[in-house]
Amino acid sequence: MLHSTRLDKNWAVVPGDHWTAPALAIEEGAAATWDAATLAVIAAPLPERPALIRQALQSGKSVICLGIAADSLVEAVALDALGRQSDRRLTCLPASGVNASSTLAPFLADGFGTLRSLRIERYGKDLNVWDEVGEGLAILAALIAAPCPNLTVDATPSTDILSVNLRYPACTAQLLVSAQHPRRRECITMVGDGGRITWDNEMVTFESAAGRTSTTPTPPQNRYVAALTAFRKGVPDPGLDIAYTLEAIRSETRAHHPVASGNMRASVTGATVHPTAWIDSGVTIGTDSSIWHFSHILSRVQIGRNVVIGQNVMIGPDVQVGDNCKIQNNVSLYKGVTLEDGVFCGPSCVFTNVNNPRAHIERKNEFRHTLVKRGASIGANATIVCGNTLGAYCFIAAGAVITSDVPDFAMMAGVPARRIGWMSHAGVKLGPDLTCPIEGRRYRQVSPDRLEEIS
Ligand SMILES: CC(C)(COP(=O)(O)OP(=O)(O)OC[C@H]1O[C@@H](n2cnc3c(N)ncnc32)[C@H](O)[C@@H]1OP(=O)(O)O)[C@@H](O)C(=O)NCCC(=O)NCCS
Repeated sequence: MLHSTRLDKNWAVVPGDHWTAPALAIEEGAAATWDAATLAVIAAPLPERPALIRQALQSGKSVICLGIAADSLVEAVALDALGRQSDRRLTCLPASGVNASSTLAPFLADGFGTLRSLRIERYGKDLNVWDEVGEGLAILAALIAAPCPNLTVDATPSTDILSVNLRYPACTAQLLVSAQHPRRRECITMVGDGGRITWDNEMVTFESAAGRTSTTPTPPQNRYVAALTAFRKGVPDPGLDIAYTLEAIRSETRAHHPVASGNMRASVTGATVHPTAWIDSGVTIGTDSSIWHFSHILSRVQIGRNVVIGQNVMIGPDVQVGDNCKIQNNVSLYKGVTLEDGVFCGPSCVFTNVNNPRAHIERKNEFRHTLVKRGASIGANATIVCGNTLGAYCFIAAGAVITSDVPDFAMMAGVPARRIGWMSHAGVKLGPDLTCPIEGRRYRQVSPDRLEEIS
């Protein structure tokens, strides 16, 4: 459980890059050390967040993360699990909470100049001052993103009015929180060399030093307060926590990285990827393909259309999988393996890519390629020793061990595998007439190891 009595008092705000010297820490009116804090508010660039969150959780702190926790579903789920294991809470607040920063960005770029002072005011009847401070500090950290060497806190004895003063090398900042004000109000004022920006519940206004004024509506209210209240009470908020991160990742991925990186349930290409699957960067997945639970697709893999990739499949870097392939559970396609169109890989069949591996000898430059030609089927638990080509529409029996090239249409079984017959396109063992009873296709054997279809 959270140490709720301390939670109200100990905060650490951790912008990126400053993990070892947290920018801000407050402990009941005095600067606290990072060690004393029980709650970390993390306002860091997205790539830095997972590591910071992990460290905070492992240091026994609960975490409020500004924005999503990670940019991959698997990582987000792992962080959530870590929080649960260590009995700490991980809450992710919608990045809209720093709408301030995104809304202000155009102004900042447009003659605002260098930030000299920043004030955040948060007022409202009966609000929890410490919640507001945490949120305000998070916004401050997002806006300033620099360590704060000097910090003082003034609090009334009843702690319903609180003022935090921060002195940065290039600017000053103040956070004012009052639970005495009758109406909820939130306001940010930033003063730069070139003008002043005011951000409140309704409007963002920029007044330039030259007298020019422009306004724009403030984006919809963020959910910080509800989220933080839920956080303090230990009540999971279904719209936030890790669910928020997961959903954000999905929609983000759908919008911006359909198949190139991250993890998604459904991409714009129509591929379906289970949230527990992990897709590395540079992967392409064709239309109507699906990737199921716990599968890992490494960098630059190319997956064709209408491919089914089952559970717990690993596809190594640069592997190519043609259209209409089916890869059953527990298959690993290592680097160097290529599947043409329509290949079937039975459950737990095994590919290899080094012929004579030794744990103590690096043989990454000695990969041998395995080509599986169109329409081939590999039975459950078969092993394909690397460096061989499996011919078109060949059929490898369950448990066979392939140690040499396999002719087209060959039906291979045993250890080591030997040809025990011929298989038709339709996957039927051919009799002496070499005619497929299902499709009527006719074949002729042109040599002991070669069958071809009579067109
Ligand atoms: C290869 C296979 C298609 C042969 O099926 P079939 O045409 O019905 O052949 P039969 O069962 O009549 O067996 C023919 C001969 O091959 C042998 N044989 C069949 N499968 C074998 C295998 N996996 N390994 C070694 N020998 C095998 C049989 O023992 C039999 O030998 P015999 O003539 O000396 O008695 C089938 O056994 C097989 O392995 N299918 C793969 C199933 C699979 O892995 N599916 C994955 C998706 S679930």
